[in-house]
Amino acid sequence: MNHLLSLNDLSTEEIQDLLKLAQKLKRQTKEGVQHHILKGRTLGMIFSKSSTRTRVSFEVGMYQLGGYSLFLSSNDIQLGRGESIYDTANVLSRYIDGIMIRTFKQSDVEDLARFGTIPVINGLTDEMHPCQILADLLTVYEHKGQLEGLKLAYIGDGNNVAHSLLHGCAKTGMDVAIATPEGYECTESYVAEARAAAKSTGSEILITRDPAEAIANADVVYADTWISMGQEEQKEEKLKIFMPYQINTGLFSKAKEDAIFLHCLPAYRGYEVTEEIIDGPQSVIFDEAENRLHAQKAVLATLLGK
Ligand code: CP
Ligand code: NVA
Repeated sequence: MNHLLSLNDLSTEEIQDLLKLAQKLKRQTKEGVQHHILKGRTLGMIFSKSSTRTRVSFEVGMYQLGGYSLFLSSNDIQLGRGESIYDTANVLSRYIDGIMIRTFKQSDVEDLARFGTIPVINGLTDEMHPCQILADLLTVYEHKGQLEGLKLAYIGDGNNVAHSLLHGCAKTGMDVAIATPEGYECTESYVAEARAAAKSTGSEILITRDPAEAIANADVVYADTWISMGQEEQKEEKLKIFMPYQINTGLFSKAKEDAIFLHCLPAYRGYEVTEEIIDGPQSVIFDEAENRLHAQKAVLATLLGK
């Protein structure tokens, strides 16, 4: 593992190793153990979109591992004024030990990794959100004691979070059902990658338009915002189309009785999920948000600690 661009690039074993390391680092942090794994190492964090969790958890994670991080808003660095990815990758590779980037195009993240000589971590693109899904898998494991054989239902927009869930579930042997409205389906090539991974883990993949079919018998129910960053102008149109996909008491009752509810956040109560569900007893959203820190520390220690 040299980068974290897409969960599809990782083997089942690599994902399991990251989750084990995350659990260990989480336990040690709670015990007050001070780490120096990344002493003298610097992470550059390029953001072309907003962030609360990703920015804070990466910055704190680097600090807790003994390293240093730099926040690089794309508005303030020359990349935002049109400097090439090629030059940016080569220059940053001379100063720092790793790059975390949140941007629009997946191909820009891949180019950064290709042209530079340091590890690149995808902190979200329009197509992928691998760090989020590592935290989600850790959260499911903590609450359910297993991943293999569980069923996760994702109801909503077929974009970044859904794609990385497809990869993450398929690689870890979880069944995954995705329900999206017509016109908002997952990208076929990512579904195909997940189906290929599922062949060796035995995970079942269901792609449907019917939220009730997706959620039936689910152990984990997952929502994301309907209005992703950079798509704000679609809000009015989408709110109408997505309303039948709202996770409310009626829909949630079709999942298993002990199902847990996950949301990557930020959440918009009354749209993709009602208050009763997201603030109810089966919601584990804040454990999930906390686990961004622990999962990413495992990624940082693995990629930058070499
Ligand atoms: N879930 C997530 O990535 O949150 P932020 O946009 O706040 O980083
Ligand atoms: N799909 C959302 C995820 C936010 C973490 C977005 O891209 O804005």
